[in-house]
Amino acid sequence: MDSKKQTTRSQSHGNSGNEKQSNGNSNGKRNSNKQKQSRFNEKNAGKLKDFFLEELKDIYFAEHEALKALKKMEGAATSMALKDSIGQHHSETEEQIKRLEEVFSLVGEKPSKKKCEGILGIIKDGETVLEDTETDTMVRDAAIIIANQKVEHYEITSYGSLAELARTLGMDDVAELLDLTLDEEKKTDVTLTELAVESVNEEAKKE
Ligand SMILES: [Fe+2]
Repeated sequence: MDSKKQTTRSQSHGNSGNEKQSNGNSNGKRNSNKQKQSRFNEKNAGKLKDFFLEELKDIYFAEHEALKALKKMEGAATSMALKDSIGQHHSETEEQIKRLEEVFSLVGEKPSKKKCEGILGIIKDGETVLEDTETDTMVRDAAIIIANQKVEHYEITSYGSLAELARTLGMDDVAELLDLTLDEEKKTDVTLTELAVESVNEEAKKE
């Protein structure tokens, strides 16, 4: 378990390093976006591209819904540690939404959302933990962590798949941006696990 955690941590740290580099790269390359767009449109028109765009709209919708849910969860959490963690992920999610808008721009599309019943179900399910647990308890924090991790895993699946599709479609720059968010989502998932295992679950057990 520990060695696994270490591996994930070092991977995340390694990717954080890439993040700075890639952000710099993506800003510096904005001028060549038009060139990339036309390359994408010429070479990759087809059903896979259409499907990629649908999935992109899906995760764009999901991130906006997650943003609203995070605000509620932050307010409902008991411990400062969990409130801080959720607050930090809220800010990160705002950046992830901007990054998705950059992806839309690279593929020559206007940002748009596609309603996704899947993420709405996960979020709705997560919100029921607020009804099922009492205010100011660590049981509530344990439940909020699980609810957040369910959302994270949806996002990890989406970003991982989208990054691979982007690579298949010859859009390495798009894949790089999606990978940045994928790494952030994985890191958040690990942070939440650590919070649960190292303090919240044990404290909840004593209530
Ligand atoms: Fe996210």
